[in-house]
Amino acid sequence: MTKIHPDIAKVFISEEQLAQRVREMGAEITQDYHDKDVILVAVLKGAVYFMADLSRQLDCPFTMDFMAVSSYGNQRDSSGVVRILKDLDMDLADRHVLIVEDILDTGLTLKYLIRNFKARGAASVEIAACLLKDRERTGENAIDVKYVGFTIPNEFVVGYGLDYAEQYRGLPYIGVLKPEVYSN
Ligand code: IMP
Repeated sequence: MTKIHPDIAKVFISEEQLAQRVREMGAEITQDYHDKDVILVAVLKGAVYFMADLSRQLDCPFTMDFMAVSSYGNQRDSSGVVRILKDLDMDLADRHVLIVEDILDTGLTLKYLIRNFKARGAASVEIAACLLKDRERTGENAIDVKYVGFTIPNEFVVGYGLDYAEQYRGLPYIGVLKPEVYSN
């Protein structure tokens, strides 16, 4: 049994559920990219656990790169601004890119990255998101996510790479914090 952190009010997705779903996503991605030599791009820092687990489930050639962007700071609400803090090392020209993302909330970060990667000449850009928040993304905010782990309610969650003020990333499950954690 996983030990639950005292600041966690509720576990949304257990360690076992995450492992099972990541295996399934790995199989699907392997099938789609078996002849493509895909480059996996993870957005730091939240996606590192998902990237590590998902990539170990791939049975096809791939390379990895990392990028750091900021749209949140230490707040719980999006500032609406995307800044590149660390750029990719690799050239994306004519490459098939799969963005490996922890969570899609407003979609602002991914919208920006897709546009940016296409401008660098990527042959294709798709998204594998561990979590998708159940909120409206229509019109300009519409975004096509090819691989989704779980759809979750529109609440702030932590664990499996996701933080609140840089804490809780190492929790092996996805959970919601107790309200008093925010007021402290
Ligand atoms: P978006 O641009 O609104 O889709 O937000 C993308 C980024 O915000 C994610 O990659 C996370 O780093 C962060 N984020 C969004 N929702 C949450 C959450 O519920 N918990 C922790 N971080 C979140």
